[in-house]
Amino acid sequence: MIKHLRSAADLDAETATLILDTAAEMAALSGREVKKLPALRGRTVVNLFYEDSTRTRISFEAAAKRLSADVINFSAKGSSVSKGESLKDTALTLQAMGADAVVIRHSASGAPHRLANWVEGSVVNAGDGTHEHPTQALLDAYTMRSRLGRLDGLRVSIVGDVLHSRVARSNVLLLSTLGAQVTLVGPPTLIPLDVAAALSPSTKVSYDLDSVIPDSDVVMMLRVQTERMQDSYFPSAREYSRRYGLDLPRMRNMPEHAIVMHPGPMNRGMEIAPEVADSPRSTIVEQVANGVSVRMAVLYLLLGGK
Ligand code: NCD
Repeated sequence: MIKHLRSAADLDAETATLILDTAAEMAALSGREVKKLPALRGRTVVNLFYEDSTRTRISFEAAAKRLSADVINFSAKGSSVSKGESLKDTALTLQAMGADAVVIRHSASGAPHRLANWVEGSVVNAGDGTHEHPTQALLDAYTMRSRLGRLDGLRVSIVGDVLHSRVARSNVLLLSTLGAQVTLVGPPTLIPLDVAAALSPSTKVSYDLDSVIPDSDVVMMLRVQTERMQDSYFPSAREYSRRYGLDLPRMRNMPEHAIVMHPGPMNRGMEIAPEVADSPRSTIVEQVANGVSVRMAVLYLLLGGK
């Protein structure tokens, strides 16, 4: 088993599949009245969140608790980080407290890689800048596999603000490893071509959502990340929505079995219409539930739980 999960590229097909299969066993547990396993009793998991998060933070906390680990939640706000303490000094503090795993979200791409040099425990990347978010890719793959029965040969379109999306990067890497065919869709200003090619040579690019939709088994919508935009990448929200938003007429052009995904948080009415987000084809709430099982599997396997 690998020690750290910093990038989706840390996972070969065998390891990724083991995580998904383990997550399925963990999911069976959440149907029981007592949702706890003793697997990580006595182990300490620290959640180190330097950037805002709702789903991911709660999900990692729930996952660690269901495995009976001791959980310490650290958020940069209210800590000595606001007094200017460096990531390294924070890491050394965690090290002194004996963290077996550190889950980190940080606005700087590469922060989990640095952290892994300073702590002895496992490091799990919960989102670093615009770089990667490997557990999101795992929960997305899990959701696709459980809804559609396979990943190999699946046609997945990832739509919208690819440029700023760590979710897109990790998904391209993981899905390619698992044999899916990814197409990145969005305005040219939001699709870094070199990145698409560098991530996986088999990844396709399209600027025309309407032509891609009828050939997609999965349409994954991305949030437009205005907080990371210093320039204007499209003329207006309305224009963006008209060309790249998933509304009901577009959803009706998807194959009958196809699903709609979104990592959340959504800009309802911008990249996704409310009726689409709430439709039975949408897996958005399922993705959140699956996130807990997948993160349980990751913590369990990285920490060598029994
Ligand atoms: C994503 C993230 O933080 O990268 N959200 C998530 O983890 N569920 C995507 C986003 O912020 O748009």
